[in-house]
Formats: sequence, structure tokens, C-alpha cells
Amino acid sequence: MSTFIETQFPIARLSAESYKERKAGASQTLTGLGKWWGRKPLILVRASILGMLMPASSNPKKDREIYLKILTMDDAGAWDRCKPAVQRKTSRATFDLLPYAERIANCERPENVAGPSVAAWAEINAHLGTQAKSLPELVGQLGQRTFGHKPRVGDSFCGGGSIPFEAARIGCEAFGSDLNPVAGLLTWASLTLLGGGKAVQDEVRKVQESTFAAADQQITAWGIEHNDRGERAEAFLYCVEVKPEGCDYYIPLAPSWVISERHRIVATWQKVPGSNRLQPTVLPVSESEFKIYKDTKGATIVNSRVIDPFDANRSWSVEALRGSEGLRRWSNDDVVPRPSDVFQERIYCIRWMNAKGERRYAAPDAVDLAGEAKALELLRERFVEWQREGFIPSKAIPEGGDETARLYRERGWTHWHHLFTPRQLLVHGLISSLAHTKHRLCLPDAGRLANADSRLTMWNWRSVAGRGEAISQTFSNQALNTNFCYAGRGLIYIKPIIFDSTAISDATALATFDSFKVSCVDARDLRETCDFWITDPPYADAVNYHELADFFLAWYDKQLAKAFPEWIPDARAELAVRGDGEDFRRSMVEIYQNLTRHMPDNGMQMVMFTHQDPAVWADLGMILWASGLKATAAWTISTETSAGIKKGNYVQGTVCLVLRKRIANEPGFLDEVYPMVEDEVKRQIASMQALDEDGEPNFNDADYQLAAYAAALKVLTQYGKLDGKDVEHEVFAVRARNEKSDFQTVIERALGIACDTLVPRGLDASWRELSLVERYYLRALDIESRGERRKGMYEELARGFGVTDIRPLLKSDKANGTRMCTPAGLAASLLAPVHGVESNPAALPARRGRAGTGAPHPFAVSPLRHLMFAIRETAAADNSPEPGRQYLRDTFGQAYWGKREGFIALLEWLAALANAEGMTEWTTDSEAARILAGRLRNDHA
Ligand SMILES: C[S@@+](CC[C@H](N)C(=O)[O-])C[C@H]1O[C@@H](n2cnc3c(N)ncnc32)[C@H](O)[C@@H]1O
Repeated sequence: MSTFIETQFPIARLSAESYKERKAGASQTLTGLGKWWGRKPLILVRASILGMLMPASSNPKKDREIYLKILTMDDAGAWDRCKPAVQRKTSRATFDLLPYAERIANCERPENVAGPSVAAWAEINAHLGTQAKSLPELVGQLGQRTFGHKPRVGDSFCGGGSIPFEAARIGCEAFGSDLNPVAGLLTWASLTLLGGGKAVQDEVRKVQESTFAAADQQITAWGIEHNDRGERAEAFLYCVEVKPEGCDYYIPLAPSWVISERHRIVATWQKVPGSNRLQPTVLPVSESEFKIYKDTKGATIVNSRVIDPFDANRSWSVEALRGSEGLRRWSNDDVVPRPSDVFQERIYCIRWMNAKGERRYAAPDAVDLAGEAKALELLRERFVEWQREGFIPSKAIPEGGDETARLYRERGWTHWHHLFTPRQLLVHGLISSLAHTKHRLCLPDAGRLANADSRLTMWNWRSVAGRGEAISQTFSNQALNTNFCYAGRGLIYIKPIIFDSTAISDATALATFDSFKVSCVDARDLRETCDFWITDPPYADAVNYHELADFFLAWYDKQLAKAFPEWIPDARAELAVRGDGEDFRRSMVEIYQNLTRHMPDNGMQMVMFTHQDPAVWADLGMILWASGLKATAAWTISTETSAGIKKGNYVQGTVCLVLRKRIANEPGFLDEVYPMVEDEVKRQIASMQALDEDGEPNFNDADYQLAAYAAALKVLTQYGKLDGKDVEHEVFAVRARNEKSDFQTVIERALGIACDTLVPRGLDASWRELSLVERYYLRALDIESRGERRKGMYEELARGFGVTDIRPLLKSDKANGTRMCTPAGLAASLLAPVHGVESNPAALPARRGRAGTGAPHPFAVSPLRHLMFAIRETAAADNSPEPGRQYLRDTFGQAYWGKREGFIALLEWLAALANAEGMTEWTTDSEAARILAGRLRNDHA
């Protein structure tokens, strides 16, 4: 029996919800606990589990209605989630008319409400034959029916823990595991703390409060954050400085010296007689002057060159300053640069706060500099002991990493603690020493602090939405970037980092999570059995988890070993699955074979991955096939950008591939498989089109293409062998470049079928008459007119139509800015008339493609080119259609009359292109096409 997700998935609504959740930034449920990369939206996990549990009935529309009710994503559910202020302003009828993405803009997220209404539960239970009043009850009852127990959901690559967390929250038994102990810690903490209910949260809060109070007392006693004006330092701004050859003073480095946009404050530098150090002044400037500073006035680092602040014509390259030998490598006990080092460090501004909460920016005075020196001294006194106890990092940064190599090269840093100022090490170390021994759940605090306060955290002077300046995270992207200026936090600014992470509303915790387990194991070695495995493997995702997580592991290190003696406190980089080569494929097959062994025959798997390149996923399909799985469905959810706006720009789709165990392993034969694939692709597309027809569009081009792949996989993966060839053997067979396996050929054929089934609206009548290149060109224009700009999609489409070189047809081939040529844009030579080609392609003169490709232009043999030429002629003749019409009549002779209707349809279609958003380039050619179409319509023999 099929489940809901094997027949349909509400892609548009789910994309909108996933996007909203991702955009919630800091108020996402789990992100507050600690940094992890590539987290999956909780709503997507919830929807997936429920879709795998809910049986499909013979009434798909009703199934969909009920499924949306369970998620509170039906019309009534969305309305109920609306904030009261919105409900007062809008009527339900008006609300329902809005596109879904707009409706939910002012709604609570589904995870933050108590669940379906009483009325909705009545309908859900009636349809499903259940007696549930809550999600955990429903999950329990559906699980009982299929598996005879509460469903057990596992994730072998659990990362930040989204999958086990959401599984536990809606009432499944949850299991999460990751190779990386930082991921293990975050997953365990999310389940234990957020799922522990108020009692656990209160207990942790108490420990955090007492730690904070003790740290506050100690820092006050040390006197390193207070001044004699009754103020306390909130933020410390540092910069690197260098003394290039020929310059007799140190130059402080910054790409901008603006400190506050809101208050128009900037730092300026003055020479000090008798000293080789410059003196900063921190003061507000006039509006007009501020504009110049914003425009990087006074910047001392521009395009990797150091600029003399007193003579803009003098500059030195940073590369050259580092010297041919590279920088001195810091040793473990270095916490600040040595006087002989190229790059020095200095503080140039402090943000103070008084008892009334008023802020003041000032350059540091002698007392403040003494405070800095004291912090260094206090740290030195504790350094050895704190490293031994693991309150501050002591690990070396692994050499040769993709991410970490630049730390050595750009700063000479060799140990993780080099990424922190003495003040940061002192304060973080103090907090760790006070907290760690008291509660395991305080461990992630150290990681959050490290992310919020390091030599890599930058000062953001911009005023965003009226809010003031802020300090960025260490990981503002997926890399460890060194900066020339950076900012550190005083204890009052550290407070929110510790405390604002554990908020969870009553509604969010649907129940206390009592059945979950977290481990830290290589996915090849897992021995747990789960009914559903939902995984998000590190597939070609370019994130070096093990290297990035080492930054945190350095802080957890010894404490983690004490708190979780069974875990290995190491990133075990050699076992991390990464890349997309042969080794990667082998590891993946091993892992998925293992998971498949550890699931019941009626169990299911979902493999999620966020793809940059749509082609990679056919490869993943092969891996899963070789692992003994068969595909039953695939859906793409847009998780990274607005799906409500179904535009291609920068959309990141997460593919959700649904799989079951291949039990029978029957042999199949390719010649039988082809027609089956054809039927399946057509059936799949027809069912999606039927769902698309009523109401909001649910699927876009990429979805249909993916569905075609999935349909092919569905047919193929039923078999263990095709024409006697074993799938595992095929996956690993050594092939010449561009040589395809038979299996790949079938998958590509499926795409071809899909491409042919999807005819742009209005072109049905003439479609069959067109050559493959013409169909490709028109379909590519079709997706362009709907906002698609990703190059991968244009290439994928080309594969479907069997077009090998699309370059001559592209106006732009930017990764996220791909566009097709207009008739005017296609080079004149390529459109010049070539008579007799249609009847005899061999008569084609040796026209060449673009610069050295050697291949003939793909349009050279296509009749559409004549139409394009006629459009150009029309436009060139100031929209007089005569030359264009005459050209067509001359070219086609008597055949013109038979082709005329088809020409008109095509011209009208091209004429409408300019109406689409973002297609202004078509204005001239579309108008010419419209006029020419009118002329052809009135033509008489
Ligand atoms: C894409 S992330 C998972 C993100 C997670 N789904 C979330 O929502 O936060 C992939 C994970 O696989 C882990 N990983 C890599 N190689 C592994 C292996 N051999 N065994 C187990 N986990 C591994 C990485 O540490 C990383 O956390």
C-alpha cells in the first residue's frame, strides 16, 4: 500500500513554510543552541514523517485536504495561525484569496501552535480511522497500524539534529547519530533541553545564572571592564597594524573606519611625536563628511593593499608584506603577536554603557590600555592550568585543510586558541571553569560564545532597520575568514549569547520527549534498527563539516570526553564522507546498505539533499539503487529562497527522495523497461498537472524534470539486474569520460520523454513539427520567461532534448544569470539564410559555432531560424513585415502555405514573451513577431 508521500506532496505550501522558517534566523527553534551548517527546516521533517506514515486512499484530493489539516497548512489552519492583529484587520475571505506565501507572512509557524483545531481533528480521524487529539497520538496510532509500535525514526547524519528532534517532538521514537561529536552534542542537547520540559530548562537556567553572576563578580573584581565614569565596556574594537618597509609608523588596517552609522561616528588617526604608533580619535562627524567616510574615506586596506593614511599614493601589497617565506608560525603559548611579527594587534575603540543604558564610543585611554594589559597578565597566570583542564583550547589546527590553511598563511595561527584575543580567552575560560563541571547541558554555551566572540567576529557599523551596530558571528558564512579588524564582547554583551538560547513555548513542545537516543558513530558502523531512516548526507555540498566543527571541538574537547566517555572527541576527518568521487560513492553505498539492513521490510527511507547541480542527483539515485533500495517518489522543496515567488533566481531546492527496500530483486530487461519508463513518466507528469490545475501552481519546471528522473528510477530500481548486469557493478564500473552506462541512458531517455510531454502553453499544435533544437530553444525561453536563471537548469533541459552544445544559443551563461539569445542577439551570420538545408542537411555550409568550438551552430539546420531571421528583418525594417514575409515565402516556396499556421502560432508565442516579467530585452523582437504574425494571418495565395 502506498503512502501519501509516495503519491503527492504539497510542494508549494511546504516550500513557503520552509522558507519562512529558514528566514526566521535567530528565532528558529534549534539554531539558538549552537552553530551547525546545512540544517534542514523542521517543517520539512515534520511533513516528511507524516507523509510517510499517512496511507494514500483512492481519493487524492481528500488525502491532500486531510494531510494539510494535520500540518495546519490548510486554509482554515493558516487562518487560525494568523496573529490576532491581522485577523482584526482582514476578513477570512480576503485572506484566503492571497497567495499562500503572503498569507503566512504574518502567521505563527505550524510548530508554534498547538496543532489542528477540534473540528479539524474530527475530519482527520474520520478520514484516517483514528482517534487522535494530538500529533503524538496520531503518530502513535498510525505507527501501531503499520509497524505494531510507535514508529522509530533514525538519522545517521544528524548534524544540528533537526530530524531526530522533530521526530521526537511529534511522538516518534527518535535516533540520531553523526560522526562529528559537535553534531552529536548539539543533537543530544536539543532533545534533552528543549524536549526536557520546563523542569530541565529551569534547572539549566539556574546553573547559567549562577555561573554568570560569579563571572560578573570576578570580572568586576579584576577591574578589566569598568572605568571611573561609572561605565562598563560593552564592545572592544581591534585592528591589525603593520609597519611596511620605508614607513616609519605602524599603519592600523581597516577597509572602513566608520564605527556607527546611526550616530555618524568614525575613527581617525593622528601621528604622535616621538612614537611610531598612531593615535586614534573617535568622534561624530557632519552628515556630509560621514558620507565620504562611508565611501571608505581613510581606508587603509583596499584590494589587498595597505594604504598609507597620510599619503594615499603610497601602498604595499599584503602578500608581499607576508614575505616569501610566509609568516612566523605562532607557538602554543603565543596569545598576542610578538614584537617582531609582521601583523600586530591593537585596540582602537571601546563602546561603553552607563547605568542608564546610555552608550558612548571612545578611543581607549591609558587606563583602558592598562586594562588590556591586565587581561593578558591574568590570562598568562591561568593559561597552563586552563589548557590542562580544557577550559580553553589547546589543540593544534590540523594542517592542510581546505578551510584552515588560510589561518596559517594569513596570520601564522597554528592553534585554535590563536583565533581569540587574550581578553576573550580570559572571559570564556572563566565562564567555562565556572560552568562545565555543573551541568552537561551548559557545554554548548562554550561553543556559542566562541562563535559570537573571536578574532573573526566583525563589527557591523551599519544601522539595519533603525537598529544599531552589532557583532557578527565567527561563521557568518561556511568558512573561517581572517579579518583585519574585529570586535570582542564585554560580559554584558555576552549575556544574551548564554541565555537567549533555550526559549521554547508550551505549544512548541508537544510532549516531553521520552524516547530518544543519540550516538556518535560512523554511519557504516550503526547497529540500530529504525522503521524510517531520514537522512541528509554530506553530498557534494562543499561544506567541510569536520574542519569547521574543529573550531568548536577545541572548546569542548576535554569536557566532552568527560561528559560523554563513549564518544570519540575527534572529528575523525578520514571517515567523513565528502566530495563526489569514487571513494565517496563507495562509502555511500556501504552506508546505505547498512541502513537498509537495519530497517524492517515495510520500512521506508527518505534521502534529502540540497542540490546545486541537478545532474548530480541521478548519480545519487544510482548509489541508492546499488544499496538495495528502490525509489518510490521524489519531490523538490525550495528551502533557501521564496518559493511563493516561483522564480529560479538563487533557489536552492532540497530533493526528497522516498525509498523502500528492494525485496524481490527480480531480473529486468532493458527493452521491456523502456516502455514502462515511458508510461510511468507520463503518468507521473499527468498526475502532477492534475494537481496543478486547481488553485495555486504547485510544481515548476525543475519539479517536472525531477519527477521524470524519479519515474525512471521507480521503474529501474525495482530490478537488481538489468540485462544480466548487476547494478552495484554498474555503479563502480570504470568508464571512459562521457561514456554512459545503459542505466544512465534509460534515465536520460526518461528526461526526454518528460521534455516532450511538457509543451509550452500555446505551442501544442506546432510542437511535433519542430526539431529537437527548436523545441529546446522554445522550452528554454519558456523557463526564462518564468524567471529561471540557473545555468544547471538550462543544461539539464538540453540533456533532455539531446542538445549537446547550447553555448551558441545563450546570451549569458552565468551560473545564476543564464539567459537565451533573442533573434536580434543571435549573431547575424548564424541567422543568415541557408537555402536547401531542410531537405538536405548535408548541404550545410561549414558554419562554425562560437570561438573554436568547432561544432556547427545548432540552429543551422532548424527551420525556426528562418522565422527568427524574418523577425530580425521585420525589426530592421522599422516593423514593416514585408521583407520578413517575402523571405519566408522565398525560402519555403509552396510549402509556405502548409506551414503558415504553425508559423503564426510560433510568432504569437514569441510576441507574448516581452509581457513576462524581466523579459524587457524582448520588447523589440516581440513587437516585430506580433506584426509579422498579423501579416502572415492576412496573407493570401
Ligand atoms: C548535511 S549534514 C546534516 C545536517 C542535518 N540534517 C541538520 O539538519 O542539521 C551531513 C552530516 O553528515 C556528517 N557525516 C559525514 N561523514 C559521516 C560519516 N561517515 N558518518 C556519519 N556522519 C557523517 C557530517 O558531520 C554532517 O553533520
